[in-house]
Amino acid sequence: MSAATPSGDASGLPMPDADLLARIDTTVAHPARRYNYWLGGKDNFAVDRASGDLIAGRFPAAPAAARANRAFAGRAVQYLARRGIRQFLDIGTGLPGPGNTHEIAQRIDPLSRVVYVDNDPIVLAHARALLTAAAPDTVAYLDRDLRDPDSILHDQVLTATLDLTRPVAVLLVAVLHFIDHPDPHHIVARLRQALAPGSYVVISHGTADFLDIQAKAALPGLTARDAAGFYPRSRDDLLALLDGLGLVEPGLVSVIDWHNPVEPGPFTAEQIGVYGAVARVP
Ligand SMILES: C[S@@+](CC[C@H](N)C(=O)[O-])C[C@H]1O[C@@H](n2cnc3c(N)ncnc32)[C@H](O)[C@@H]1O
Repeated sequence: MSAATPSGDASGLPMPDADLLARIDTTVAHPARRYNYWLGGKDNFAVDRASGDLIAGRFPAAPAAARANRAFAGRAVQYLARRGIRQFLDIGTGLPGPGNTHEIAQRIDPLSRVVYVDNDPIVLAHARALLTAAAPDTVAYLDRDLRDPDSILHDQVLTATLDLTRPVAVLLVAVLHFIDHPDPHHIVARLRQALAPGSYVVISHGTADFLDIQAKAALPGLTARDAAGFYPRSRDDLLALLDGLGLVEPGLVSVIDWHNPVEPGPFTAEQIGVYGAVARVP
């Protein structure tokens, strides 16, 4: 789905018809739905809740990590919007919920533009809830896969919504850890190449840096039956991904430590295990 479809309404999105509903697999856990469960949402199935509970049984900080990640994303968007960024490409959008990117950006400038991208049919089925901007044509949704960045960059809906000759903030928040090596390097490099100077890349990413050998070994078993694998990366891996970009202070840190005015919750940065960074394209 990119441009308006015959079965769609004025939003350009397809109605959640039988074909779309048939794409929703309720037999394996999906990252968007499990994340929604951890955030306290209702758009998830038994298999997602079971997976979420299994992971939280081994890593009790997992739901808190989801909340901390979502809060980081909101602070990063606010930080950039306050510094004049008016265009956002949010890849790996997740299910709509409090603190959607366009709501935060458009509180600062109602004409801010946001393109959302996700490859999960359930996110597509709920995407109409994202297109609630007051100003027409400022928000769009693409049913695309991050593993094919060119299909995103060349989509006509994207090019009609965002001006890539001007700064754009690309959000890769809690999505790259669902993509196996070596793809993230090609993906980030391709996206960067398409961005004007003064653009930004925002990432957050799960890490196993603070886990002992036993806990690391348990990880693949916990996500073995998921729709997407989980590929935690080290601080050095992530710094390599961002090489050549200018890290905004305080650099690559735990999401709970990035421009966070709020007292940390009961879990430490090590238990949360999610790095976040905002990096500027020179
Ligand atoms: C954990 S959620 C994060 C949602 C949101 N970015 C946030 O941080 O609040 C990860 C999202 O990435 C999406 N995703 C995973 N792999 C993807 C891919 N290859 N292409 C596009 N989206 C993907 C999932 O469907 C899910 O909605």
